[in-house]
Amino acid sequence: MTKPHLADWAPDSWQHKTVSQQIQYANPKALEQAIEKLRQLPPLVSSSEVETLKAHIAEAQAGNNFILQGGDCAESFADCNADSISQKVRVLMSLSLLLSQNLKKPVTRIGRIAGQYAKPRSQLTETQNDTSLPSYRGDLVNHIHFSESARLPDPERLLQGYSYASLTLNYIRSLLESDIQELFQLDQESQALQALKANGELHKSLEQFRDAMQLFHQFNGKQALGKNVLEFYTSHEALHLHYEQALTRRANNGHWYNLSTHYPWVGMRTAKKDSAHIEYLRGIANPVAIKVGPGMDIETMLSLCKTLNPDNEVGRLTLIQRFGHQAIGSKLEPMIKAVQDAGLKVLWSCDPMHGNTRVSSNGIKTRDYQNIESELLQAFEIHDKNSSHLGGIHLELTGEAVMECVGGTYNVTEKELESAYTTLVDPRLNVTQAFELIDSINKKSISYDNIHQI
Ligand code: PEP
Ligand code: CO
Repeated sequence: MTKPHLADWAPDSWQHKTVSQQIQYANPKALEQAIEKLRQLPPLVSSSEVETLKAHIAEAQAGNNFILQGGDCAESFADCNADSISQKVRVLMSLSLLLSQNLKKPVTRIGRIAGQYAKPRSQLTETQNDTSLPSYRGDLVNHIHFSESARLPDPERLLQGYSYASLTLNYIRSLLESDIQELFQLDQESQALQALKANGELHKSLEQFRDAMQLFHQFNGKQALGKNVLEFYTSHEALHLHYEQALTRRANNGHWYNLSTHYPWVGMRTAKKDSAHIEYLRGIANPVAIKVGPGMDIETMLSLCKTLNPDNEVGRLTLIQRFGHQAIGSKLEPMIKAVQDAGLKVLWSCDPMHGNTRVSSNGIKTRDYQNIESELLQAFEIHDKNSSHLGGIHLELTGEAVMECVGGTYNVTEKELESAYTTLVDPRLNVTQAFELIDSINKKSISYDNIHQI
């Protein structure tokens, strides 16, 4: 059943290529032992779930569905608790309702969750006062605390990461089976909900939709709601290839799947021609995504598309564009045209976060809400103008009332960043900013033909 172009591929063939962002372990034997243990453990997701998601992505490419992908920049082991997980799931559920209501189409929810534990870094070392240490590379690799022992890569963390991902996913699966009202309810006590309530129009629209959903549920029963309502998928950056390889399994259909997650993506720093990360991704049958940014030339983008999707299969490949609000105006259109000219079937998804990161005047990594919104709305417009189609969004957000991105209706100021900043790496939208962003798409999208073609 192996496709001819994969005859020379194996779960470990990436090891013969150049590995960017490689982690150096002091004790390679301990790494080998951890990987061997991982190989014995059961997969976290099933190949049939993965194939169902691929079918939804294919529908999103056709304009009959929309992909909402979001979550933490870096998920932490400490956040593997009931409150934190249910908040993340509820926020994505509620946002998807709002989105679905106005786009008039189903929305597939995908968390950056249950495995988003490894981070690429632009700077491989961090200096505080006069001390330089290896950068924090995600909980799968080392600890965020700034000390020599904490920053040492520890292979045991691969096994811990697997366990936390498994506990998280187990709890998500039980939440999906729980009362629907609860699943779409934001925490009544949370500051975030209070802020949302203050935006009367936005809150009313969400409540109305939730009521309608509840009524529908009562009349039709949970079964009749069908999978489109309650499905939830996981994704993470396929960065730590030893971890990904250990959880790559051959299914009965003869294809290899990464069964640590439904939807792995390769980030900006590792999406390179002939790289280890692309080599790994090309052989698995999951739907896969690559980030494309201002630094990627068109020729590279086309070549990566052909390597990852030589059969031009619908649903297989997502291009997550992340240019920044300034560069998108000049960079996106030529890429869309090149994809169209080559007849490539891809899903375009917009990540309006990673091209808009800056350092605040008080030295904190932040993003401006207005730049995020601007990039996203431009993305819809540019695709529309070019007879293309934006079928998804990719966000860093949280259900908590953090203050990490500045601006928004409740205008988070640079000074306030110091008061509620808990992200381990990049600044996330708080729940109010996330709702506002989804609402801005809804308002704007009314005029788009491509949104209304179903
Ligand atoms: C990310 O998604 O957290 C990330 C690092 O993105 P990018 O690869 O686009 O910089
Ligand atoms: Co990030």
